[in-house]
Amino acid sequence: MNYREPKANIDPDTSKSWLRRALPVALAHRWLLLTSLALSLAGLLIQVQIPNLVRLGIDDALVARAASLQKYFWLIALFAVGQGIVNYLARRYLLKTAYAVEYDLRNIMYQHLVRMPFGFYDRVQSGELMSRSSSDIRAVQMYLTFGPSILVQCTIAVFAFALMLSVNVPLALVAMAALPVVGVLGIYARRSIFPVSWLIQSRLAQVATVVDENTNGVRIVKAFAAEQQQLETLAREADKVRWAYRREASIRSWWSPTLENLPRIGLGLVLLLGGWMAIQGKASIGTIVAFNAYVLMLQPPFRMLGMLIMLSQRAAASARRIYEVLDTHSDIADGTVSARLRGQISFENVSFNYPLGTSAISGMSFTVKPGETIAIVGRTGSGKSTIGRLLARYYDVTSGRVLIDGRDVRSFALAGLRDQVGIVPDEPFLFSVSIRDNIAYGRPDASMEEVIKAAKAAGAHDFIQELSHGYSTKVGERGYTLSGGQRQRIAIARALLVNPPILVLDDATSAIDVSVEQRIHSSLKSLLDGRTTLIVAHRLSTIALAHRVLLVSEGRVIADGTHASLLETSPEYGSVLASSLQDDEVASVPLARGSDPQTGVLASGLRGAERGNTA
Ligand SMILES: Nc1ncnc2c1ncn2[C@@H]1O[C@H](COP(=O)(O)OP(=O)(O)OP(=O)(O)O)[C@@H](O)[C@H]1O
Ligand SMILES: [Mg+2]
Repeated sequence: MNYREPKANIDPDTSKSWLRRALPVALAHRWLLLTSLALSLAGLLIQVQIPNLVRLGIDDALVARAASLQKYFWLIALFAVGQGIVNYLARRYLLKTAYAVEYDLRNIMYQHLVRMPFGFYDRVQSGELMSRSSSDIRAVQMYLTFGPSILVQCTIAVFAFALMLSVNVPLALVAMAALPVVGVLGIYARRSIFPVSWLIQSRLAQVATVVDENTNGVRIVKAFAAEQQQLETLAREADKVRWAYRREASIRSWWSPTLENLPRIGLGLVLLLGGWMAIQGKASIGTIVAFNAYVLMLQPPFRMLGMLIMLSQRAAASARRIYEVLDTHSDIADGTVSARLRGQISFENVSFNYPLGTSAISGMSFTVKPGETIAIVGRTGSGKSTIGRLLARYYDVTSGRVLIDGRDVRSFALAGLRDQVGIVPDEPFLFSVSIRDNIAYGRPDASMEEVIKAAKAAGAHDFIQELSHGYSTKVGERGYTLSGGQRQRIAIARALLVNPPILVLDDATSAIDVSVEQRIHSSLKSLLDGRTTLIVAHRLSTIALAHRVLLVSEGRVIADGTHASLLETSPEYGSVLASSLQDDEVASVPLARGSDPQTGVLASGLRGAERGNTA
């Protein structure tokens, strides 16, 4: 089935009550809902006739002996069957409405979530989001659809009261005497339960977060033999939920019986007053029996009202949590310019802080010519990965400007921009679909030839062919059935297939061994031509692919030039390289493109750096 847009949206006006904001979603399915409500109303109208038939039967056929009992039996049977059929239909329509509303709510939520920027996911825990998009949505849906139905069910009290009034006014009033008290108590009950339902929802979300981290991080948990510790964390969270549930149960177990049983006092009153009136000849026996049935009919509506109150409290709490997400708007505004990029990049005095972090980039400036290959080198945490993220607008700069082809990245249409700035992260994410679909993720329509070509360029073709089902092999969750290097190569193929004019390889070969990397490089080299490429690099062999090197430190470019010139001029460069190099690499260093392989220069440069460090 294809994705269907939700029929309506949550009202964005935050000054309205939660219910008014959610109403459009229910109203979008009003015909379904109204049909079910009309049917359940019809069912009730039939139901309230039955005690009246009993009264007539007793008075006519038993007391006066003026009619046959059989006639009343068949009448009552007919009404009962009719009620059953109508109720069945009402329920079907109600459930249909419920699932339609839930479907829309889920899509509204998901549509919003997929549009949220990276910064949002830095802040919000995924377990939270899962519980918001499942149990919270269910709670709101229940109230929106079952709420009106319960209200209709409650009208049975009105009908029963009307029928009682038409038969015997004083007796009807006495039968209903307890109701105002129940109404007032209901309000008190509501007030005392609400805070606890809020607490329950948020603690359930906490448990979901722990479970989520446990299953997603199961490899780490096991690696550290931390199962016991995780169980204890979960137990702690679960205990908090239990406390909240128990608290709710104890409040509820006090209120529910009180609210449910108070109306039963009516039964005694009907017998007392009705009996007295019957002795006086002012009421018939049939009336007393029928009134008994009516007073009993008053019970379910009250229980349901209690349920409605509970539903409304859960729903209000859940809606608040859902709206918290829906009311967070992406702070990454879409631009309008869509053009094929040439690939000229410049950072103009860019500073950037992560939403939950301190300064990651501060006063960074550099330019890259179209088609240039640049290696970005720097110590861990220096801001290398952040450069690519700003380029593709995962985040917006705090100050300064990021320009592509002389235009601020904020002026480009986002989808077009991200299509043309391909980023291969160091820990790529693979989906649980076939290898082919993972590679073709950015271009699902790509032909098999194109997929294979990209895989070959990324050095992935050979190992893919050795898998049991080749390109159709399904990847395990997150790609855990593949090695880190294999995942990286698939991610590179994925980016190459889209053929972006700007490519960022963020440590994308860190898990690939040097000899395989060399092979990839030879095929990559031809692909890098005519494309602007930023390569975050730790290895000399990777640096060798680049025309130029940017040395990044504390969010700033502190040196910019060819590998050879940086070795000469920047002691820091030598020391950064020395700290990330393996010995055998130093011996077999290919050097920057366009410069002669001068192993001697490098080695002396490194030694110089080390001397500088120890001095
Ligand atoms: N999502 C985030 N939220 C908050 N702070 C972050 C986030 N990502 C990175 N940082 C911080 O920003 C700074 C720069 O991070 P960045 O990922 O760019 O470093 P890096 O140079 O790529 O490091 P590495 O070589 O380890 O990958 C670091 O201090 C890091 O702690
Ligand atoms: Mg990084």
